[in-house]
Amino acid sequence: MNHPKALTKDQIAERSRGESYQQMLDKESNPVPDSLRESTDTYLGSDNLSVDRYFSPEFQKLEEDKLWNRTWLAACRESELTQAGSYFVYDISKYSIVLTRTEAGEIKAYYNACLHRGRQLRKDCGTAREFKCPFHGFRWSLDGDFLGAPCEWDFPHIEKETFTLPQVKVDTWGGWVFINMDLEAQSLASYLGILPEHFDRWKPENTFKAMHIEKVIECNWKVAWEAFIESYHTVQTHPQILPYLGDSNSQYDCWGDNISRTISPMGVVSPHLDNIRPDQTVNDWLEHGAWLTDQAKVEVPEGMSARQWLAEYYFKHYSEQYQTDLGSFCTQSEIMDSILYSVFPNFAPWAGFHPNLTYRMKPYGNDPQMCTMEIIVLMRFPEGTERPADCGVQKLGKDQLFSEAEGLEGGLGRVFDQDFSNLKMVQKGMHNLQSGEVVLANYQEIRIRHFNQTLDKYLNA
Ligand code: FES
Ligand SMILES: [Fe+2]
Repeated sequence: MNHPKALTKDQIAERSRGESYQQMLDKESNPVPDSLRESTDTYLGSDNLSVDRYFSPEFQKLEEDKLWNRTWLAACRESELTQAGSYFVYDISKYSIVLTRTEAGEIKAYYNACLHRGRQLRKDCGTAREFKCPFHGFRWSLDGDFLGAPCEWDFPHIEKETFTLPQVKVDTWGGWVFINMDLEAQSLASYLGILPEHFDRWKPENTFKAMHIEKVIECNWKVAWEAFIESYHTVQTHPQILPYLGDSNSQYDCWGDNISRTISPMGVVSPHLDNIRPDQTVNDWLEHGAWLTDQAKVEVPEGMSARQWLAEYYFKHYSEQYQTDLGSFCTQSEIMDSILYSVFPNFAPWAGFHPNLTYRMKPYGNDPQMCTMEIIVLMRFPEGTERPADCGVQKLGKDQLFSEAEGLEGGLGRVFDQDFSNLKMVQKGMHNLQSGEVVLANYQEIRIRHFNQTLDKYLNA
């Protein structure tokens, strides 16, 4: 089969009708970080993707055996393991890992199973001085050393020195604690590639968790994941945001096997719309984001763009909130655009100086047609002040809407509900694809291709 090559010049011009994201950066008055100037323009072929990966139990089993236990996974925030004995249980697929902070301040992670008869040692999160199994009382220290059991005379065959809790790899980046069950795995730093360098400017480690929502969705975890790594669906699914989102101006990048990014410029009119005045762009945005406290409409001064107006507005708002002068160094892009990175397989952090959304998807139990999606908001706080406490998790069932969650009542909840309404219909529809394949765009859906190509590398290894 003959495949078209990467986009031609004309296609690129068409893709950014009006202005490309890079051209928008040319208008910035503050210096633009190199990370935003990078543009990989990747082409990964035009092949269709077989759909069995989204519902077959065999495929789900392959992921259990070759994916979740071999990749670096963002398990929790460092701030969820503040003191010696804090523990956090991270469950994914059939695996359960308990992370803890030792007396020496180190973070360690163990398989969450008692070495006697296998009971899970811990559930959820909390603090403990040691890991004592609730079944018969076998005990291990926070360092994983065996401390003893009732009636030890009955276990002369246990070698105390080696009866330690088996560990998995742990490392941290950006305030996140990652685990990897593959003891031979490459280091987290090498796995993350360009990511730490790009985020050095945004310092996600200096944030706290302001919102955390977890929702059960009736679709494969990859169906949910893929819906959030492209902006192509905006024109049909989220038409109300087109007056202020340059959906088809979005830039898509891929680095190595594990990292990709979409940047969707905000405060600009979608190339799909005509005749939208800057006033409408600004007012729609403010209204949907519940930013307007009184009903007075904003008038954008003649000669000023909506993007400029909104950037000034946000510089002022967030400068007050963070007690710093954002306008002196921050770009318009970093205060308003959707800059969404992803780390293979299931962790997607936003970048920039606004409150940063972060997404995570996971299979739900062993049903390949169910998953959980987490939406986390990380917020900055004034430098030198105490880090505010992280919020708890709001759990939503499969029939609840995102907009029912506290903090998502506004326009953002509506956007997630629109996404959510597609997901279970995709899951159902896929079974009736007579070709057994889905078709992907060359550019705007490149991240889906990139993701699946990396997935195949793991599963075929
Ligand atoms: S299963 Fe844990 S002590 Fe028996
Ligand atoms: Fe969406």
